Amino acid sequence: MSATVPLDPARPVTTTALRAMKDARRPIVMVTAYDTPSARLCDEAGVDAILVGDSLGMVVLGHGSTLPVTMDDMLRHTAAVVRGTKRALAIADLPFMSFQVSAEDTLRNAGRFLVESGAAAVKLEGGMRVASTVRRLVDAGIPVMGHIGRTPQSVNQFGGYKVQAKESAAALELLDDAHALEDAGAFAVVLECIPAELAAMVSAELQIPTIGIGAGAGCDGQVQVYHDVLGMGEFTPKHAKRYAEVGAVIRSAMEAYANEVRDGAFPADEHGSRMEPTAVAEVERLRERGIHAVDAGEEA
Ligand code: KIV
Repeated sequence: MSATVPLDPARPVTTTALRAMKDARRPIVMVTAYDTPSARLCDEAGVDAILVGDSLGMVVLGHGSTLPVTMDDMLRHTAAVVRGTKRALAIADLPFMSFQVSAEDTLRNAGRFLVESGAAAVKLEGGMRVASTVRRLVDAGIPVMGHIGRTPQSVNQFGGYKVQAKESAAALELLDDAHALEDAGAFAVVLECIPAELAAMVSAELQIPTIGIGAGAGCDGQVQVYHDVLGMGEFTPKHAKRYAEVGAVIRSAMEAYANEVRDGAFPADEHGSRMEPTAVAEVERLRERGIHAVDAGEEA
């Protein structure tokens, strides 16, 4: 079977299927999506997993970071993605402060994504410090994807969006984080913006799949942000590749639409409907006599 073909194209992807893909050395394809039509297109294209990332805040809602994203934002967009998804595994990001306050709060918040939005799993940022949280969620039947390296919710601690774990001490710490997540029961872990050599080491040491973004080709899969893949963002991050210029296509379609409205070329006859000429004549006759809807019945 070709590496470009999913394990079983007819079957919905499960967390255990991702593990089987790692074992079969079949690269896992994950992408973010935030609404029904884009999820449908990703699903039809055969991606294995769709992440409703809290990147929602930056690429869709216009915030400067992921920190303002709320539970309500994530629940609504996750439900929209699930409605557009038939085969791909739908994973919801736990937003900032939804899993830090208390164990009870975390469990309730994570559970809402499965119960109210229909997601199959949640993702949360952090390594050793969230291992007990991951264990608690997994024990409650909530599959968890970990996320380590350049975790955007920690942007204020990192002092910007920088590649992480370039030095040996930090690299060792990241390896410990990865093992802690696996030991806690995570079904996969995202490795974001870490050196390729380190990501390859993590991928070799873990039994669970690693999904890289800016972490080189040695991961078990890759994740990209929808708008980056399509060339719809204001800029393209170093770790992304534009596979299309959809932004340019949208802009030129909008210009063409605006021009046609302004010069009267749109709408044409075929874009609307018409009344029977007798009905038009009747309306004109009644209006001439000052008759309104309320008294039209009497007149007839
Ligand atoms: O929020 C997001 O989109 C993410 C991915 C980039 C991994 O966390």
